[in-house]
Amino acid sequence: MADDFTTPLTVEQMYGDWGIEWEDAVAMADLSLDPRPRTSMYDAFGALGVGEGGYVLDIGGRDAAQALELAERFGCRVLSVDPVQANIDLGSQAIADHEHGHLVDNELGSINDIPAPHNVFDAVFSRDMIGHVEDLEGALAECRRVLRPGGAMVIHDVFATPLLEPKEAARLSADLAQVPERLDSELFERTVEAAGFTIDVIDRVASEWLEHLLESEDGEKRLLRAARLNRERDRFVEQMGVVPYRVVLGNTLWTIYRMIGKLEDRVYVIRA
Ligand SMILES: C[S@@+](CC[C@H](N)C(=O)[O-])C[C@H]1O[C@@H](n2cnc3c(N)ncnc32)[C@H](O)[C@@H]1O
Repeated sequence: MADDFTTPLTVEQMYGDWGIEWEDAVAMADLSLDPRPRTSMYDAFGALGVGEGGYVLDIGGRDAAQALELAERFGCRVLSVDPVQANIDLGSQAIADHEHGHLVDNELGSINDIPAPHNVFDAVFSRDMIGHVEDLEGALAECRRVLRPGGAMVIHDVFATPLLEPKEAARLSADLAQVPERLDSELFERTVEAAGFTIDVIDRVASEWLEHLLESEDGEKRLLRAARLNRERDRFVEQMGVVPYRVVLGNTLWTIYRMIGKLEDRVYVIRA
């Protein structure tokens, strides 16, 4: 049946005979759609064919966890770059403790000022960081500078869908140090092309990674956490401080919105 999903339902439609029982309708939605796990991003990376002898940049690599994972899975060398010194310190420790740490280095830097010479990387990996970038065109030009000709970037980010209201977008961006325009996937794609890349793949992952997580782990706590944080804001601000309060609540809502389709995860493969 065609429906524009905005025409108000009547009371008769809502409470009348649907031709299906409530339990049967809910049971349909309770069946798994076989979502892919978060590691599907590594499949996209693997398709580039970068392996032993390859050199990869993980930009916004935080504590080098992804860099170590890439080194372990593909045998490539990886440089993890992040602008926060506390992340570099954590990363150095993780690299020292890891079996594949000899393949990984980490350095302080940003996507707009990458601490590497021209044309050295076979690929750039970027998970969940583009949203923080003010000058995206400059950032992508800087990635092109360090990529070998024909090299590719695998980029994951989270974008707004039409279900996200403007005030929700503004609040989330403020609480999570995001640049509001980065939620716009069309602007992202135009900027990628303006920076001289072609888009090879757009994988609209949407809520799959989170569905996989929720189907495989008990104890999803985010709804409860958001409810408590909202109901007793002053108590939590006093207990943990205002910045942790805003980031914990912002991050919790960010994940809930990704689950319910207000935000959409995507993985892009773009080529210089
Ligand atoms: C949400 S975390 C993601 C970390 C990691 N990529 C992951 O997927 O687990 C975002 C990371 O981007 C880093 N970041 C923020 N602004 C950046 C910039 N301009 N250039 C590079 N990294 C940046 C942050 O320090 C943080 O470690």
